[in-house]
Amino acid sequence: MAAQLAPSILAADFARLADAAAAVAGVADWLHIDVMDNHFVPNLTLGLPVVQSLLAATALPLDCHLMIDDPDRWAPGYAEAGAGSVTIHAEAAADPVATARAIRATGARAGLAVKPGTALTPYADLLAEFDLLLVMTVEPGFGGQAFIAEMLPKVARARSLVQGSGLAVWVQVDGGIDAESIERCAEAGADVFVAGSAVYGAADPAAAVTQLRTAAERAMRRRPA
Ligand code: DX5
Ligand code: ZN
Repeated sequence: MAAQLAPSILAADFARLADAAAAVAGVADWLHIDVMDNHFVPNLTLGLPVVQSLLAATALPLDCHLMIDDPDRWAPGYAEAGAGSVTIHAEAAADPVATARAIRATGARAGLAVKPGTALTPYADLLAEFDLLLVMTVEPGFGGQAFIAEMLPKVARARSLVQGSGLAVWVQVDGGIDAESIERCAEAGADVFVAGSAVYGAADPAAAVTQLRTAAERAMRRRPA
């Protein structure tokens, strides 16, 4: 499949979120929204009211990445509000299957995220319940961190789990994605790429998205068939 780009507004100006969405409209596939609660991660960002305002301000589908405790309780609300995709963390979910089903019941896509230290294998049997598997390539909580190259074999493992399952689950990477790391992730098997600093830290965010996409697609062509 083609590469999908999801700029993360965590790296944008929080006083101008509608402008940040507009800056990548027409070039990005998703707008990535990092919801943090100061409990699951040591940072606090935004929640449902801001997501609702963004839904009204942009036609881009929202990819909500919930770095929060008790996602079983809160995730369905983001899907009901109209998010296109809602991702919960495996480490935080008490009942990931029930939560994925509640997300999907709204028509939204359901994602399962794993932190760098969390193994994929225990979740292999849950893949059919999800549309996306997010392999974190930094410790969640903050933008602008260095890409953890040790995660590349995990990206490849995610790809082979998905391939082996025959399911149409997307493999997403998030954290430290730039022109160089995106190629390594694409080659390893990722197909959805979150980028914060590399997009909103650039003078021209739309041009940055296009450059990242070109790099990802070039690397995807090098993947073994
Ligand atoms: C980190 C967030 C990321 C973050 C990525 O916890 O999940 O989405 O915005 O930012 P960069 O691309 O700057 O690493
Ligand atoms: Zn994220």
